[in-house]
Amino acid sequence: MAKKLRLPALALIAVAAGCSTEHPSGEQLVQDKGCVACHGIDGRAVAASYPNLNGQWERYLRLQLRAYRDGKRQNGIMQGMAASLTDEEIAILAEHYGR
Ligand code: HEC
Repeated sequence: MAKKLRLPALALIAVAAGCSTEHPSGEQLVQDKGCVACHGIDGRAVAASYPNLNGQWERYLRLQLRAYRDGKRQNGIMQGMAASLTDEEIAILAEHYGR
């Protein structure tokens, strides 16, 4: 019995370890970074003053987030939101909201 349990237990440890690495899911990241407050969980914005991101091209979203972060596109809200994003986080966010 003890022998039979060993393999599933190891598999569980591996899964748990995988979840705690630096690759959060897109859904997790848009919540952690606060994007959901304006753009919603799925990119359908909560109010007309915020753009819908749902359905937008992933590449376009990635370029816009980099542009905000690097000061090439200027907006008081989004420059602040993007200021500390890594390239990897931007890729995950763009993939989550875009297509
Ligand atoms: C407080 C509200 C708010 C929050 C929070 C917020 N945004 Fe925005 N977002 C905006 C507004 C307003 C704009 C339009 C800015 C402009 O005119 O350039 C925008 C624009 C964008 C754009 C460009 C859309 C386009 O059509 O060009 C992207 C991409 C984006 N946001 C992604 C995000 C992501 C990812 C997060 C989380 C890290 C986030 N936003 C958090 C309000 C917000």
